[in-house]
Amino acid sequence: MKNAFTHTLPDPAEAFREANGIVEGAAKRLRLSPEQSMALMAQSNCIVQMFEQRGESPRKALETIGRYADMIAQYRGERFQPRISARNLAKGFTLYCIEPPCGSNTYILRRGGEVLFIDSGFACYAPEMHALLCRLFPDFDGLSKRIAITHPDEDHCGLLHWFERIYVSPMTWEFFRLEAEGQPNFRERNPMHAPYTRIIRILSQYAAPPMERMHVIGDAPDDPDRPICYLGGLDFCGKRLDFYRGNGGHAVGEAVIVDESERLVFSGDIAVNPAGFTAPQAAFNRLAPCLMKDVNMDSGRFREAHRALLRRFPQQRYTYCCGHGAIMDADTPQGEEWKCAILD
Ligand SMILES: [Fe+2]
Repeated sequence: MKNAFTHTLPDPAEAFREANGIVEGAAKRLRLSPEQSMALMAQSNCIVQMFEQRGESPRKALETIGRYADMIAQYRGERFQPRISARNLAKGFTLYCIEPPCGSNTYILRRGGEVLFIDSGFACYAPEMHALLCRLFPDFDGLSKRIAITHPDEDHCGLLHWFERIYVSPMTWEFFRLEAEGQPNFRERNPMHAPYTRIIRILSQYAAPPMERMHVIGDAPDDPDRPICYLGGLDFCGKRLDFYRGNGGHAVGEAVIVDESERLVFSGDIAVNPAGFTAPQAAFNRLAPCLMKDVNMDSGRFREAHRALLRRFPQQRYTYCCGHGAIMDADTPQGEEWKCAILD
């Protein structure tokens, strides 16, 4: 098989063996199918070519892909040990936060027999997440389950098929429609992001979510000039959650979900908390920028949306439940019920 890696080193046969070895090793550790392994090789080749065009070492790209596979495999089974915390909210609600070693945080609002998730992490950790959730909620399988997602990246959307209803922004719905029709999604239309996105989808066992369970939040009129703009609301057991769209700077379809009654902002990746990463999270989150250069679709727009978000929901008053990293508590104390417990 011809491989771009072979063009850069004095011994093409040796280079080809090395590239093949790294990708095959990754496929083996993650128990990928032959089709997935072939696709991984093809996408790895695309990244190698991108590195070569930039005059960078293709070995670095391949080693990063191998490191991704290592880390995803390393935290499977008993080594999947997220940081888990719970906070009591008013009116009988509880907020849980699950921070896994790899992938996005999962937030869960619970009241009685109903749960609303916000994001869900990688698909490959479904068995570990299911076991964890059954420990956390012994009645988990019988609960009524809904999910709202902050943006359609695979590290946030791995478990969508578990849910009866999936709340999305209008552009996230469009993103998933493109996928369902076999067309390139918004990230895949960006040549810098396409091979990376496809590789992570293969490594994390991502599967496209069921369109028929999606419910679009977006009945408010849009103002294109505003980087953060109100989309509409959702009622969860009497609790109102407001959706605001971002400007697509991090990911097309991104939304921020706000619980005004508790002053909670579920910010997705428009605001993350690197200072609150665990050591495995910090190591894992360093990998994507190696392969994509920039995890944002448009960094200028991202900064604009980030600033607008913090202006609209200042950290002095609002608690930030970020897409990655520990929850950032507001400077102003929350209500009496607000008590945080570290569960694991
Ligand atoms: Fe993310």
